[in-house]
Amino acid sequence: MEIRENFSLKAYNTFGIEAKAKLFSDVNSLEQLKEVYANYPNEKKLPLGGGSNLLLTKNFDGIVAKLNLLGKEILKEDENYVWLKIGAGEIWHEFVVWAVANGWSGVENMSLIPGSIGAAPMQNIGAYGTELKDIFTSLEAWLPEENTVETFNNSTCDFGYRSSVFKTQLKGKAIILNVTFKLSKHPNLNTSYGSIEDELAIMNISSPTILDISNAVIRIRQSKLPNPAEIGNAGSFFKNPLVSSEIANKLLEKYPNAPNYEVGEGLSKVPAGWLIETAGWKGRTFDDRFGIHKKQALVLVNYQNASGQEIFDLSENIIEDIEYKFGIRLEREVNII
Ligand code: EPU
Repeated sequence: MEIRENFSLKAYNTFGIEAKAKLFSDVNSLEQLKEVYANYPNEKKLPLGGGSNLLLTKNFDGIVAKLNLLGKEILKEDENYVWLKIGAGEIWHEFVVWAVANGWSGVENMSLIPGSIGAAPMQNIGAYGTELKDIFTSLEAWLPEENTVETFNNSTCDFGYRSSVFKTQLKGKAIILNVTFKLSKHPNLNTSYGSIEDELAIMNISSPTILDISNAVIRIRQSKLPNPAEIGNAGSFFKNPLVSSEIANKLLEKYPNAPNYEVGEGLSKVPAGWLIETAGWKGRTFDDRFGIHKKQALVLVNYQNASGQEIFDLSENIIEDIEYKFGIRLEREVNII
């Protein structure tokens, strides 16, 4: 195992932020992961997946363990379902492409989400009407403090909107090694999210296959979201806030067209993208180097050479402005280091 010193993380975070790790190691197995923790007991640790939900605001004064645990295994199957165990280091979208090509349904709505398999349950990734928890059965994680491998099921993961136990009680205490999914052999299409139906109509498709859905999602994402290979970003920077009906009603009095969705008794979700756009931030750039994406106000972008601190400060200004203008406090979805 090679330990690198003063290692640039620019290629390891989709924001493309230049920040250095004091120490860096690729980790290809649980044994190597244990070795890093055993050999550097006093260093801070940063387990790193695809780096697609991360904002580095400074150099990392510790050891980065880049998780490359690979493997795709069919655990079992019956007439209706297939159970797949996937290594944490596999790339999420490659898994989706593989599943769709095999006719296994359940992940097609989550096509083209950047990041690794291991990161997906952390924040219960979701898109276009489907969430990871809908197709998740279990995962194995290593807990460094106990030095044990534990299995988590849907309930012990405590999934919520862009959240899980790994972002709350077990934050920094568990490293996901592999994830098992249950996909359907019979297409179980979910076109409830409006823009999928619209896109299928544009594509002239009236009875879609899961490949058509996947292609529609890819087209929608490509039209709205910047490709991290071209423009640095970490997808949605903020979560869509949940507000009381009282606050939602106040908003509607002032802005009768404000979009909002009831998500439970007395609770509404307001799209953060709408709040940010309405407050006038969409498409703004600063010094030609960073700003708010032109086509999706929820996405902050690094055009060139922005520092993580500059992007963080921008997010702070947005949060304060939205709170001042709408009385709603946005929460960041991205992990800040
Ligand atoms: N909107 C605006 N202006 C904008 C963006 C959005 O007014 O610039 C409003 C519109 O009313 C629009 C609504 O927000 O109808 C919803 O927009 P969109 O469908 O683009 O979805 P989102 O709520 O902005 C969420 C996820 C995305 C996911 C999409 C599609 C979060 C934080 N984000 O975005 O996930 O792709 O739905 O399901 O929940 C990610 O998490 O990184 C991510 C990209």
